[in-house]
Amino acid sequence: MRVLGIETSCDETGVALYDTDAGLLADALYSQVAMHADFGGVVPELASRDHTRKLLPLVDEVLGQAAHERSDLDAIAYTAGPGLVGALMVGAATAHGMAKGLGIPVLGVHHMEGHLMAPMLEGDRLDFPFVALLVSGGHTQLVAVSGLGDYRLLGESVDDAAGEAFDKAAKMLELDYPGGPAIARLAEQGNPERFRFPRPMTDRPGLDFSFSGLKTHTLTTANALRDAEALDTQARADIARAFEEAVVDTLVIKCRRALDDTGLKRLVVAGGVSANARLRQRLDEAVTKRQARAYYPRNRFCTDNGAMIAYAGAQRLLAGERDGSAMLALPRWPLTDLHPPTS
Ligand code: KG4
Ligand code: ZN
Repeated sequence: MRVLGIETSCDETGVALYDTDAGLLADALYSQVAMHADFGGVVPELASRDHTRKLLPLVDEVLGQAAHERSDLDAIAYTAGPGLVGALMVGAATAHGMAKGLGIPVLGVHHMEGHLMAPMLEGDRLDFPFVALLVSGGHTQLVAVSGLGDYRLLGESVDDAAGEAFDKAAKMLELDYPGGPAIARLAEQGNPERFRFPRPMTDRPGLDFSFSGLKTHTLTTANALRDAEALDTQARADIARAFEEAVVDTLVIKCRRALDDTGLKRLVVAGGVSANARLRQRLDEAVTKRQARAYYPRNRFCTDNGAMIAYAGAQRLLAGERDGSAMLALPRWPLTDLHPPTS
């Protein structure tokens, strides 16, 4: 079965073609990052308009890469939520229009289920059950995954998501959007001994996260140095290092706890922040100590992309699931509302 995947939930237009026998045939991505950079974050209306411009050319590009025609498609999967409603509607309308024209099934996919499944696009075999750490710009969640659509929330952020905290800390240090990669680059030059930032909610039991206090701490530190005219390049790098270390340490502590609590030996890490090299290094150390293993998507599939939507959609379509004619664009849609595939 050849499934076209369409992702338009935020600021990346992603399209991919996944074959349930041959694997990923092609994928293409258009990032709007440069367009939103001047505004320091995503402008929803600009995002929707740009998806409209880029989506169909990307579909043609992907089909061209794979040397296939639209008539070779067996189904279309699109991101139905959560995300920016206007941006989601572009993907939903395009997917439904194409599917109707071609007379093939269409399926709305949960964006975070896409992220969750992204490591399965790699060669390594990954079996259920596992613990998943989902860390993106909008979500920070620990989930016990027993099967496709069988999710139990173990913990989540009570305020900012980890990626959002990276983006806000980057703004405080006058770095470009998106902040995660910019902070990680600057942190490499930072002195880890200069500052120690708090590890929120790690001194009490439970698997929830909070990043807003850490954000305030970062702002206070940066402002104090700025007032003293001492916020030079080295100081900014030292803050970036302390911030990254605090986020990473907090995520690692909770992942260790989640593995110990559930007794599971597999940890899937996905979403934009899973591209962070320091996080991967620290998690690898933690799982090795537990005779467990961590699984990550390849770097380009950590952030938003069409391949993860094509893959997750294909698994549900294979199980016989189909949507009706309603176009789905759900800005808020808890992952735990999902069920295993229904045919
Ligand atoms: O999954 P994603 O592409 O979009 C959402 O669904 O939110 O995640 C984007 C987030 C941004 O907040 C970005 O700053 C963060 O992932 N990110 C990183 C890194 N690369 C992207 N955070 C830390 N380190 C990175 N290397
Ligand atoms: Zn995402």
